[in-house]
Amino acid sequence: MIVLGLETSCDATSAAVVEDGRLVRSCIIASSSNDFTGSGGVIPEQAAREQLKSILPVIKRSLEAAGISHHDLDAIAVTHAPGLLGSLLIGTTTARTLALTWNKPLIPVHHTLGHLSSTWLIDNQKPETRNQKPDFPILALSVSGGHSDLWLRRSHTDNKLLGSTIDDAAGEAFDKGAVLLGLPYPGGPALAALAEKGDETRYPFPKMLAHDTSLNFSFSGLKTSLKYLLRDLAAADTTINDEDRASIAASYQLAICNHLIRRLKQAIEMHSDVREIHLVGGVSANLRLRSMTEALGKEHGVIVRWPSTIRYCTDNGAMIAAAGTFLFQEQQSNEPMRFVTSAAKGL
Ligand code: KG4
Ligand code: ZN
Repeated sequence: MIVLGLETSCDATSAAVVEDGRLVRSCIIASSSNDFTGSGGVIPEQAAREQLKSILPVIKRSLEAAGISHHDLDAIAVTHAPGLLGSLLIGTTTARTLALTWNKPLIPVHHTLGHLSSTWLIDNQKPETRNQKPDFPILALSVSGGHSDLWLRRSHTDNKLLGSTIDDAAGEAFDKGAVLLGLPYPGGPALAALAEKGDETRYPFPKMLAHDTSLNFSFSGLKTSLKYLLRDLAAADTTINDEDRASIAASYQLAICNHLIRRLKQAIEMHSDVREIHLVGGVSANLRLRSMTEALGKEHGVIVRWPSTIRYCTDNGAMIAAAGTFLFQEQQSNEPMRFVTSAAKGL
């Protein structure tokens, strides 16, 4: 089954061609994130205008790179929620029009389900990894700029939300921390790079939701602690040199990762039949989080996976094509899948 996947929920415009929900034949990503370097975040209307400019050329390039024409497609999958409404509407309106014109089934995909499916993707450079197929039940930590969710997955369509953030998302914590440290947007990769040269034990941050036994997350207090730390250092007339900044970044990164790992550990102890832990979403690109999750997996004898390349951690059309394929295969009827384009969360 060959599916074209379209993702336009934020500042990335992506189209990808995926075979059987796994083999990525092409994945083109145009991003306007550089336009927002100085603003500390995405400006929704500007992002939507960029989506409009990019969407058709990106689709054309994805078909060419896959070496196919639209006649070869079995379906089109598109992100319909959640995200920036203007950006989402560019993707869904384009997808509805192409599905009608080319006479293809149209599959609406929730953005989170896309991220959850990203661990199935195989790069066409590494087809031998096809044998390494994920196995349910899976505990999936989906962490991005828009959400931080912990899922218990028993199949592609049986997903139970175990916990979620009550304020900022983990990626947002990275991005806001980066702004405070004077780093460019998107802050996650920049903060992680700075943290590499720092001492993560030097500036201990408070433990988030220390007495809360739920599986929810909270990150906004960390950002406030960072703000006060920087304010107090400035008030004490302490010169913050490059080494100090790196250690502040490393300590802040460790606090975010510790909170995520603590919840993963609680969840794995509650669900002993889980076979795999998956890290997905933009923050799954973080190397510190990966190494800590790997250690947790070893401790509990479960396989740990994250997307096979960084491109599949952040927003991309391939994960939408994969999720669309699995939904299409598992759907019970041949009725067209009706949907509304929506900014609202909730799978
Ligand atoms: O999944 P994604 O591309 O978009 C959303 O759905 O939000 O995630 C983007 C988020 C941003 O907050 C970005 O700072 C974060 O992922 N991110 C990282 C890293 N790479 C991207 N955070 C920490 N470490 C990284 N290496
Ligand atoms: Zn995302």
